[in-house]
Amino acid sequence: MGANKGGTTGPSSLMDVGLFVLTGDIEDGGVSMAKPTFYITTPIYYPSDRLHIGHAYTTVATDTLCRWKRLDGYDVFFLTGTDEHGQKMQRRAEKAGKSPQEFVDSIVVTIRDLWDVLKIQYDDFIRTTEDRHVARVKQIFEKIYKKGDIYKAEYEGWYCADCEAYFTETQHKDLDGRCPDHDRPLERLREESYFFKLSKYSQRLLEHIDKNPDFIQPESRRNEMVSFIKSGLDDLCVSRTTFSWGVPVDFDPKHVVYVWFDALTNYITALGYPDGDLYKKYWPADVHLMGKEIVRFHSIIWPIILMALDEPLPKKVYGHGWLILESGKMSKTKGNVVDPVHLVAKYGLDAVRYFLLREIPFGSDGVYSEEALVARINADLANDLGNLLNRTLTVFERSSGGLVPAPGRLGTQDEALKRQALALAGEVRGLVDRLEISNAVAATFKVVSAANKYIDEQAPWSLAKQGKTERLGTVLYVLAEVLRILATILQPFLIEGAGKMWSQLGLGDSIPGSAWADLDRWGVVRPGTQVKKGRPLFPRIDTKEALDGTPQAPAKVAATPVSPVAEEAPQVEEPTDISIEAFQQVDLRTAKIVAAEQVKGTQKLLRLVVDIGSEQREIVSGIADYYTPESLVGKTIIVIVNLKPAKIRGVESRGMLLAATRDERLVLLTSDNDIPPGSKIS
Ligand code: ME8
Ligand code: MG
Repeated sequence: MGANKGGTTGPSSLMDVGLFVLTGDIEDGGVSMAKPTFYITTPIYYPSDRLHIGHAYTTVATDTLCRWKRLDGYDVFFLTGTDEHGQKMQRRAEKAGKSPQEFVDSIVVTIRDLWDVLKIQYDDFIRTTEDRHVARVKQIFEKIYKKGDIYKAEYEGWYCADCEAYFTETQHKDLDGRCPDHDRPLERLREESYFFKLSKYSQRLLEHIDKNPDFIQPESRRNEMVSFIKSGLDDLCVSRTTFSWGVPVDFDPKHVVYVWFDALTNYITALGYPDGDLYKKYWPADVHLMGKEIVRFHSIIWPIILMALDEPLPKKVYGHGWLILESGKMSKTKGNVVDPVHLVAKYGLDAVRYFLLREIPFGSDGVYSEEALVARINADLANDLGNLLNRTLTVFERSSGGLVPAPGRLGTQDEALKRQALALAGEVRGLVDRLEISNAVAATFKVVSAANKYIDEQAPWSLAKQGKTERLGTVLYVLAEVLRILATILQPFLIEGAGKMWSQLGLGDSIPGSAWADLDRWGVVRPGTQVKKGRPLFPRIDTKEALDGTPQAPAKVAATPVSPVAEEAPQVEEPTDISIEAFQQVDLRTAKIVAAEQVKGTQKLLRLVVDIGSEQREIVSGIADYYTPESLVGKTIIVIVNLKPAKIRGVESRGMLLAATRDERLVLLTSDNDIPPGSKIS
């Protein structure tokens, strides 16, 4: 991870704003500087079902912020987890015929898998059923009870078990007795309960919000919360006796702690409140990130719990908007959820993460659609960024033998682009700090566009033709530097692509931590560096192919389809032993390619005409990323000739050619020496 202490971007600007903490550590007689800490959390999600793209949205945004902050010199702690208690969970488990613990265990596995697929780098995953949490919830509840801010009384009201919340008499009337969020009748419940004195703290909370304009963000949510608090806070019922799946109140065990009270405390129990080292180091949290529907719990109940405990409040509660489907809000009950695992398999990790970060102004709602995703990938990643890299490297290869030339004097246009690139880190930092994530990405892509425009205007290919070597050298050098800066800044936003850019630029296999400190330096790429143009970073997606509802093959397979069949049926990776007879059923022959052309309307597919001795036939193959049609004609390759024919894009494909693949490479198998087409292979 990019811990860089002496850099010019992160640390210097941190010192400017006074965030650096001097520690007492004496090293060699000097005072060492501790990194400033950054503690951020996601909601702890309900493990009532597999998570969907909405949950992935919050978690990917959090992960992105963490990646940025780590690179930017912070000591980051990223907490996520699961909220496992409550009546809703108990009922779900009953339905599934499992004990509540078995049930949540089975879902939590899928949640952790999802975070692995999305490469989420969390530092801790807290489950509210863990002993470390349960013990501290009991402690917290008892502490506040002893203080007198929790007291026992009788409660009667209209309850929704899915909200785990009571509605007032007036709300019940207004809503015709139904929960608006879950479309179920409210139940009349009467309980002896413990109550938490929210009312006692409401004035103090209002003052805190007033004095700390950043505490609740964005602005609109803050205003909502202020008027909500001003309308008067009732004391909150914080225990239940109607079910048992929760943290028992130790001194009155027929009660379990209200699930929100239990859940909210995760942000400190995970750090070992009250005296854990992590708690001392990281609390108060810098950001609690969440969807807007639960800001109310985090900006009213949670701070008041902390006030009752005499602990500092989090610095920021941020409620982002919702991903909405054309068919309405995504919900497990509606059955219209979008599975992020499927999207990643189809479009790749970077593409999905990028879309989530870029498409919707952070803080607002936005409509999710796969069309929008494909359009976004094609426009930004394939067209803008992918093309910039690709055309730049092509010019390098054609005009300077792939070597970065030494620059001459920079002219006005060169200087303008240079300035823009050097200013980018500072600009993005400001946006990231205000959680304007989509704007941060957009700002970065503005430089991508500027660089594309620069290439168009400078037309290095004609400089090469005209023999203007010095000018060409300057233009190429400026492009190399700008691409170096872009790759570095893009690390948190394109967690795989940024590194690939770096290596295609010939700068090394991965981006070193020191690169971050070079963000506001010019002249870092050494002349003489050999660029390594590879496959396009983000191949254009054929919109029709992607959205027409044809079977969706995992990206791995789709990216290197040797035959149409392989494209449709994901290959099984585990080797199994087969008999010689089974192998002999496969009719392998040498074949000579006599013609080749791109299949119209596709990026990846080539139509080959091959001579297999007895006849000529057509084969459609997904190798256009690796071979131009011209380069194929005349080659003798190896073909499975007795494969069931398949109709692909109107072409009857008969057979499959053999190729070796590795990482991003694909190489056709050819014959070692001249041999007539149709020769049998054994
Ligand atoms: O509320 N768009 O858990 P939860 C954007 N356990 N974000 C979405 C979303 C969508 N369509 N759908 C879900 C809970 N989210 C409690 C939290 S915290 C102490 C307890 C995200 O599983 C968003 O972050 O219902 C939202 O707040 C959260 O998932 C709700 O997750
Ligand atoms: Mg919810």
